Parts: sequence; C-alpha cells; structure tokens
Amino acid sequence: MQEERHRMSGSVGLVPTMGALHEGHLTLCRRARSENQVAGASLFVNPTQFGPNEDFNAYPRNYKRDLDLFQQEGLDFVFMPNVEQMYPTGFDTYVQPGAIAERLEGASRPDHFKGVATVVAKLFLVTQPTRTYFGEKDAQQLRVIQQMVRDLGFDLQVVPVPTVREADGLAMSSRNAYLSPEQRAAAPVLHRALTRVREAYLAGERDGGYLRALLRGTIGAEPLADIDYVSVADSRTLKELERVEVPGLVSLAVRIGRTRLIDNITLE
Ligand code: PAF
Repeated sequence: MQEERHRMSGSVGLVPTMGALHEGHLTLCRRARSENQVAGASLFVNPTQFGPNEDFNAYPRNYKRDLDLFQQEGLDFVFMPNVEQMYPTGFDTYVQPGAIAERLEGASRPDHFKGVATVVAKLFLVTQPTRTYFGEKDAQQLRVIQQMVRDLGFDLQVVPVPTVREADGLAMSSRNAYLSPEQRAAAPVLHRALTRVREAYLAGERDGGYLRALLRGTIGAEPLADIDYVSVADSRTLKELERVEVPGLVSLAVRIGRTRLIDNITLE
C-alpha cells in the first residue's frame, strides 16, 4: 500500500471501514469519489477496538460483496490488511485519546477508542489521505479522530458525513443485521426518542434533565429495549448539560436483545 501510495498523484480520499457495507458507507465512498482525484477505502475488522466480551468474532464479514460494492462506487483502491500486518508479533505502541474518549461509549467500552485511534492513525500513516470521511452516527468516534488529527498534526481534513437512515428512521449500521424481525420492528425507538427531544427543544425546552428523562421514558416504553446510556451533552466537550445553551449532542446506546445500537442528533 505504501508503494502504491507513492505512485498516486493529486488529492486522495480515504473511507476507513470494517466492511459489512451499507448505504451509509456507500455515501462516504461517493463523497470521497466526487471530492478527490484518487478515492479509496480500507477494510479491516480491527481487533483492538473490541472488548473481550464483544462481537469481534461474530462481526459480519462478507469481503466479496464488500469489494464488489467498492468497485461499483468506482474506488481506485481498497487497503485490506490482515491482523498480522497491522499488529505484528511484539506490537506495543498505541494512541491513547484523552478526556473526550472517557464518557459515553468510552465509559461503556473501556479501551474502545484507544483501539480506534491506534488503527486509524496507522491507516492515515499508510495511505496518507488528503481527506478522510467519517459518519456522524459515530459522533464520539468522529470527535476522537478530529482531536487526534489536531493533536498529532496529521496533514489531512476530516470530513463529517450526515447519518443515513432507513425509511422508518433507524440509523444504518452493520449491526442492524443481527436483529430478528421482531427486534428490527422495535429498533426505530432510538430515532423516535431523539425526535421527541428535538421537538421539545424546538418548542423551547432547554432543561437537560428533562430532555434526558424524555429519552429514558420513550425507550422505557419499548419492552425489547434496554438502555445502556442516554445523554444530552455539550457537543464539543461531551460533558452532560444542565441547560442546553450551547450546541448539544443528544446521544444514546440501547440494547435490543444482544445487539447494542447507538444514535444521536445535534441541537443547535
Ligand atoms: O467506524 C468504523 O467502522 C471503525 O471504527 C473504523 C473507523 C473503521 C476503525 O476501525
């Protein structure tokens, strides 16, 4: 990949993925394709961002389908390393994000963002993109990467891309594939809860505690859903807000059966 990169000229757009592609990924690919001379993706299910009891082994893998889809989007390259290439025996250097990674997903998934930041830094070093594309569905991941790019001085632009949703509002995610038909029917409750918060905010509600209670109440009414966390936080620092008087990130993580789903909206 490094040799290939040296042969490329002009701007390079990179879409980092773990495969199991859906319309959200394809939207990132289209942006990368339309905004750069060279467009590519990485496809690597990164073991260091999964906890010991998480779904690394079960994570959906269908490389043939993914490669066909990347090709249909007209990408010029797919960087698809194996685990030994990314983490050779004796690997012992990690990127440890700071406070931004401690709350929300970081509180529920210790070391998750250390694994994400490490692999993304390595992907950036190998592919040296001009621009890289990240979905807003993983809002905290996006902030961790933006902070890392600023702190470590990567010479590239991080481009946030809005969440792509199914017709019933469910945010597209590779993990939606785990849902049974009954669970799938319950899953739009995340979007419903966020929509209620947006409506309350637009009607003038600014009390963070009230908005968090609204999230809890809406999710609580769905028998198949179990709350991991709900949050109404400062969209920059991710600290919980008493009152929403700065741009707010409303986010939540909910288990439906054994599948953990996340979603968010921004209030401005
Ligand atoms: O969002 C993902 O799919 C992954 O966290 C990423 C950014 C590809 C790093 O493994």
